[in-house]
Amino acid sequence: MKTKNTLAIVLILSISTAVLQQSCNSENGEAKTESQNSVETPNKVDITRFPNDRSELALLMRKLYDDLKANRKLISEGGKSEIDWSEEFKSMPYATPTENKNSGPVFTSFANKYLLDLRSFQNAPDSSHISTYNSMIQSCLDCHAEYCRGPMETIGKLKI
Ligand code: HEC
Repeated sequence: MKTKNTLAIVLILSISTAVLQQSCNSENGEAKTESQNSVETPNKVDITRFPNDRSELALLMRKLYDDLKANRKLISEGGKSEIDWSEEFKSMPYATPTENKNSGPVFTSFANKYLLDLRSFQNAPDSSHISTYNSMIQSCLDCHAEYCRGPMETIGKLKI
């Protein structure tokens, strides 16, 4: 009986891990589907909907994506967002990921490089606001190519 219970627990744990991993591993994964929903309704996405299923890093990514999506039009029209981006997302290098492999010195340097690109965009003069925006999105993709390919197509659509 005891063994049966243990087996059941192991089974449940591995199933839920598999579901979470989909967001990075598969193009048709959960992240993409949900991100596509948020493409249509950027202001209605509730990132706290699955608070217990999401790692600190995944929640940060989701917020970053939703904020960028919501501000893309404004930026493309030459406006500037009120958000203090590099302050808001400064914990990226240290945020706890779903999987341990998404951490360590190489991940940290990608994240620090990303934060520099985010700062350049935020402080850019009007003349290079859009080009620094696109470089900052490219910087998302550079890290994702290495660590989390699933949402890349969705992220690419943020470019202007
Ligand atoms: C330093 C590397 C890195 C950078 C830079 C980065 N990401 Fe991520 N992103 C990740 C990793 C790793 C995950 C998986 C997180 C997890 O599951 O814990 C992730 C997950 C995501 C997800 C899925 C979240 C979920 O709910 O599962 C989205 C969407 C996302 N990132 C968008 C972006 C966008 C947009 C940018 C840039 C504006 C960006 N990312 C920049 C590494 C990065």
